[in-house]
Amino acid sequence: MNHLRSAEWYLGDDRNAYIHRAWMRRGNPEDSVDGTRPQIAIANTASDLTPCNMHLNEVAAAVKNGVWAAGGVPYNLPVVSLGETQVRPTAMLWRNMAAMAMEEMFRANPIDGLVLLGGCDKTIPALLMAAASVDIPAIVVPGGPMLTGHFRGEALGCGTDVWRLSEEARAGTISHAQFLQSEQSMIRGKGHCNTMGTASTMAVVAEALGMTIPGFAGTPAADARLLSLSHDTGRLIVELVTAGRRPSDIMTKEAFLNAIVAVAAVGGSTNSVMHLLAIAGRLGIDLTLDDFDAAGGGVPVLADLQPSGRFLMDDLYRAGGVLAVLAQVKDLLHAEPITVTGRPLVDYLDDRPVYDDAVIHSRDAPLLADAGIAVLRGNLAPRGAIIKPSAASPHLLQHVGPAVVFDSIEDMHARIDDPMLEVTADSVLVLRGCGPRGYPGMPEVGNMPLPRKLLAQGVRDMVRISDARMSGTAYGTVILHVAPEAAAGGPLAFIRTGDIVTVDVQKRSLSVDVDERELQARGQARASVSAYAAPVRGWAKLYVDHVMQADTGADLDFLVGSSGDRVVRESH
Ligand code: FES
Ligand code: MG
Repeated sequence: MNHLRSAEWYLGDDRNAYIHRAWMRRGNPEDSVDGTRPQIAIANTASDLTPCNMHLNEVAAAVKNGVWAAGGVPYNLPVVSLGETQVRPTAMLWRNMAAMAMEEMFRANPIDGLVLLGGCDKTIPALLMAAASVDIPAIVVPGGPMLTGHFRGEALGCGTDVWRLSEEARAGTISHAQFLQSEQSMIRGKGHCNTMGTASTMAVVAEALGMTIPGFAGTPAADARLLSLSHDTGRLIVELVTAGRRPSDIMTKEAFLNAIVAVAAVGGSTNSVMHLLAIAGRLGIDLTLDDFDAAGGGVPVLADLQPSGRFLMDDLYRAGGVLAVLAQVKDLLHAEPITVTGRPLVDYLDDRPVYDDAVIHSRDAPLLADAGIAVLRGNLAPRGAIIKPSAASPHLLQHVGPAVVFDSIEDMHARIDDPMLEVTADSVLVLRGCGPRGYPGMPEVGNMPLPRKLLAQGVRDMVRISDARMSGTAYGTVILHVAPEAAAGGPLAFIRTGDIVTVDVQKRSLSVDVDERELQARGQARASVSAYAAPVRGWAKLYVDHVMQADTGADLDFLVGSSGDRVVRESH
């Protein structure tokens, strides 16, 4: 056995060791804090205000049993939780705060290993960022998607079908009362959104990075196997501590490239770009936007899941699960990266049959041939912007049109349905002030609604450009994460309604036909105008002063990198 980190608290006969032991023995076996048994924190994002993670206390109990069974000592450690649908103005504002608070508590406490219980969108990213920065052995338990709810005989996809049903109500194909009735069926029970939204995507990411027991991601929250695998995770973390296997041994550059391939193959959320960049930043791994274009380009979408397809997470599990998808793209994965078990991910991809090829397509008949994220650059996005071509309309991937510019989300809401708004199907909708700094927190508003008068004409998609993100459950020809954002002085701040915008996804370009001098002159003229957030205190102030741009993952500048697990001073 390696020397245990916690032994620095518990071993010895001085007053400090006495204090650490005395307060912790209560109720536990006498040898639990004798400095020989791995101390395992279960970082638990259970919260009644994070509905997708409400069941994690039950999961934590299963993990605890596994830890005891393997000779470790488990502790429940409640950590900051974020309910995607509940918190305002956007959960993304606090991803870094959650990660920072988690990291500090992981380091400050006498623990040797971590089990990370996550689920809802931001929780797994924050947990992984924290674990990477402290680099203590860690395993993720993905809380799992909920079972499928039904409304009037039809399966409901969380998120995606809220947008669809509200549009149907607007169009009059269902009544408003029926729309409201569906509310009761939308959330079937425990677990996170059942689409391939951000939560499901980040579970796949955790697995592809090697940070879960292989085969865990996608196990439904209500499935008994979730608790069995949680118990197994409790056992395994004790082994991991003994072996001294740390997050930095598992999450290598190649593991990140594997995660990019996995996200592409399951048709995952664009939010994974932000989270992967931020996690890599904590590990000092040089992952760039271009890696997404290079590694994800040409990967076929094989999982027919909402929002890009038809089925839901429960169907994916029944059809063979995440590993059956990864088995189809095994040749695109790096073979070296190991998982928490010590064995490479690719070792788990043999003999993974697909039980329903309507849900998991074969390589010869993919749902879509090319799933990657395209990175666009040009004088409108010098440091890059992203688009998911598979979610876009093919006829708009090369497009020239006049900009219709909105200065803020409020400005957009106020004018988008105005019958007098000068807009046609060829217009390019531009929304600014919604980046990390400008909003603040970079909300999921990039997939702006189309003007009602164009909807009435049958228009179903338009080019949209913003410094925002979009929900993992959304789709359209939506160019996101423009960097630098308007509030950071990016050229997006200086574009005007009527300027001609050119998008060419094939050529990876995004430009406006205004020359550099004119853009700069407009910049100086606009410098005094501030439509952007200027918080004066609290987290929002710290965030706005230090948040980086989307092209590097929107972490805080001083949180990039690792501080390791050492604490040099005692408390007395
Ligand atoms: Fe929590 Fe969708 S709201 S995963
Ligand atoms: Mg979301």
